[in-house]
Amino acid sequence: MRGGNRKGAGRKNVPDSQKKHPRNIYLTDDIYQEIMSTEVNDCNNFSQKCVELIQIGLYKLREGMQMSKIDKSKSIYMNDQIVECTTQKNNQLTFIDLFAGIGGIRKGFEDSNTTCVFSSEWDKYAAKTYEANYGEIPYGDITKINSKDIPNHDVLLAGFPCQPFSNIGKREGFSHETQGTLFFDVLRILKEKQPKMFLLENVKGLLTNDNGNTFNVIMEKLSGELGYNTFHKVLDAQNFGLPQRRERVVIVGFRPDLCITDFEFPNGNSNVKVPISSILEKNPKGYTISKHLQNSYLFKKDDGKPQLVDFDSDIQVNTLVASYHKIQRLTGTFVKDGDTGVRLFSELEAKRLMGFPDDFVVPVSRTQMYRQFGNSVAVPMMRAVADTMKETLIKAENKMKPITDLTYV
Ligand SMILES: C[S@@+](CC[C@H](N)C(=O)[O-])C[C@H]1O[C@@H](n2cnc3c(N)ncnc32)[C@H](O)[C@@H]1O
Repeated sequence: MRGGNRKGAGRKNVPDSQKKHPRNIYLTDDIYQEIMSTEVNDCNNFSQKCVELIQIGLYKLREGMQMSKIDKSKSIYMNDQIVECTTQKNNQLTFIDLFAGIGGIRKGFEDSNTTCVFSSEWDKYAAKTYEANYGEIPYGDITKINSKDIPNHDVLLAGFPCQPFSNIGKREGFSHETQGTLFFDVLRILKEKQPKMFLLENVKGLLTNDNGNTFNVIMEKLSGELGYNTFHKVLDAQNFGLPQRRERVVIVGFRPDLCITDFEFPNGNSNVKVPISSILEKNPKGYTISKHLQNSYLFKKDDGKPQLVDFDSDIQVNTLVASYHKIQRLTGTFVKDGDTGVRLFSELEAKRLMGFPDDFVVPVSRTQMYRQFGNSVAVPMMRAVADTMKETLIKAENKMKPITDLTYV
């Protein structure tokens, strides 16, 4: 059946912006002949062929510009791969979660448009918490996993171990026998999988470790060797609605063909601070510090006192550290509350300090609980970064879309 009443028959309503108008161009006979003798998709006449060729040309040009920004002598993009313009077919952004811990970065990144396709965490207690909250058991030691066995993904997330770079660690950096080299596992996976973007997180001390050499090596590997457009910034959890000072360096990278040369980190809001008192619960059971321990250890020496807060405190507290359960007398924060007058933060307060939801499941011991939250990330801070990354990616991909579907008039 042709035309008539058939659904969709007749001339399509074309928006003004897509209507074609006659334009003059000047061509030699040779070029005209070449165009006419060239098969161009389904085009029959000179005008259709010209439009199609111009579109192909423009697309290739943009792609070429993107490719030329990559230093091909060093880059992994030697195979002139076709630029992927869209995310997954069902519009899901796939991601992997490395050094997953209890999934703090995942929590910030995950939304209804993302799918986690792989996670790795070797600590059995962290894996237990991870499973209880995300319904999947992470794979173990990442150093033993061949990157070819990791599913393709759009985004790589990794809070690679910070102990060797930490201000309170021994500053061993890359020289740390096992933990220091884990960055290179991130690197090898990026190299193999070439995700569209990555999000790495670490302690601020990473910037100054070995007089800045450690960080320089990291950035040189990500930008120079892999060709990613890489950005970094130190962000502080207290500017993202948490009552805790927690500075972390966040590194974000975009695959070079995406041509993202600018990335504006969210800064949060330093004018709106959340007081610690707003997250405290009254007299939770089982967190008291005995009078004996207070006198014999916590307040014994005259070399400074631990930070104490109460229900009127409007400050932001010291960084929650993984060894909080050891009652760190100079770096820890304790609450004036409970039967003995001083107690540790409760589980609920630890969740709130880090921006995890109150219903986050903690199926492990008290010691493990503090370790896990202290090792994790400020969730709202990671969410702000993740949202900005997603917006940036969408904008870049929209710019790269080939012009299609122009209707001939
Ligand atoms: C700084 S924590 C990351 C925490 C995580 N971002 C979170 O939100 O909970 C680093 C994690 O890497 C894990 N890890 C260290 N070496 C590993 C390895 N070889 N394979 C897998 N996980 C490892 C540690 O057990 C730890 O949980």
